[in-house]
Amino acid sequence: MAPAPLLTPYKMGAFDLSHRVVLAPLTRQRSFNNIPQPPAILYYSQRTSKGGLLIAEATGISDTAQGYASTPGIWSKEQVEAWKPIVDAVHEKGGIFFCQIWHVGRVSNYDFQPNGQAPISSTDKPIKPVVRANGIDVSTFSPPRRLATEEIADVVNDFRLAARNAIEAGFDGVEIHGAHGYLIDQFLKDQVNDRIDKYGGSLENRCRFALEVVEAVVAEIGAGKVGIRLSPFAAYSEAGDSNPEALGLYMANSLNKYGILYCHMVEPRMITVGEKTETPHSLLPMRRAFKGTFIVAGGYDREDGNRAIATGYADLVAYGRVFLANPDLPRRFELDAPLNNYNRETFYIPDPVVGYTDYPFLDSTS
Ligand SMILES: Cc1cc2nc3c(=O)[nH]c(=O)nc-3n(C[C@H](O)[C@H](O)[C@H](O)COP(=O)(O)O)c2cc1C
Repeated sequence: MAPAPLLTPYKMGAFDLSHRVVLAPLTRQRSFNNIPQPPAILYYSQRTSKGGLLIAEATGISDTAQGYASTPGIWSKEQVEAWKPIVDAVHEKGGIFFCQIWHVGRVSNYDFQPNGQAPISSTDKPIKPVVRANGIDVSTFSPPRRLATEEIADVVNDFRLAARNAIEAGFDGVEIHGAHGYLIDQFLKDQVNDRIDKYGGSLENRCRFALEVVEAVVAEIGAGKVGIRLSPFAAYSEAGDSNPEALGLYMANSLNKYGILYCHMVEPRMITVGEKTETPHSLLPMRRAFKGTFIVAGGYDREDGNRAIATGYADLVAYGRVFLANPDLPRRFELDAPLNNYNRETFYIPDPVVGYTDYPFLDSTS
């Protein structure tokens, strides 16, 4: 019997992948003081398969990059050292590991900022408070400070240094987090970006910051180690766009100039966090435009993942929640085995085991 399309090998630049099932970046909020902790060694190693691609959780590029408790960073020596055993464990099992480098911009508040200062953004427009995933707590956001034109190069440089640190920590490459309403998306999207300098207004101007980050990171570590995640259709944290398809296409075409390894796009059906909705839109135009590896994510199961690969809609499919709950997901897909359900309640708790490393493997359930 021919293997399922998701279980076929794929050559991504210099990396020989043995299958197409990618671990999507998943924030787990278990990195106290912004330092990855030892339980992450087991967590990532459980989700590693030989020749499988893993994308690490969003990881802050600087001391202004955080907006949630206990998310990891990669700007200090101590953080780089803490990542090393985690990366080593993934490599020991033959995995390929990319670090998602991140700045939240205005999705933050004074409590997460050095000296209680205002979060930085493309704008000074604040985000309204939102009810958190547990349905009880409310996240509030402090009014951001609009970056001056001449300060932007420093933030680009922070992305460059974070990429260098990621390589120093042993990662195979980085994924620039340009999705989900965070800093880069706050420049890309016209619902947020109200600048009148060369970083605002036209599509070209709004994409300038993202592309400067790509250029700097490529110059630092080489295009073959660089991916980017984009969500042109999503409108998280009040970051929507009036013409997401034009934005996605402009980015896909512009990225070709830098020859980066991959473009990772989130499906238009993920309009709100965690919910699938019917949409007439598709990533096909961007897939056709982009010349590197195209990764899709958002609401995939085994069946539509196989279809995405079989029809050439994507090269790889990233799985978030089901991979979180099924450490041996590629194997389960191979066997068409039943899946563990994920538990939202434990996504973001600080517990080093519960909801983190205690999801059972197939062998232990059968
Ligand atoms: C617990 C959790 C944490 C997440 N953290 C991140 C993150 O750090 N970076 C990111 O780009 N997306 C993040 N996402 C989005 C996922 O990568 C993925 O795109 C989303 O869950 C949809 O895919 P799925 O339907 O396969 O879960 C997160 C999602 C969840 C559920």
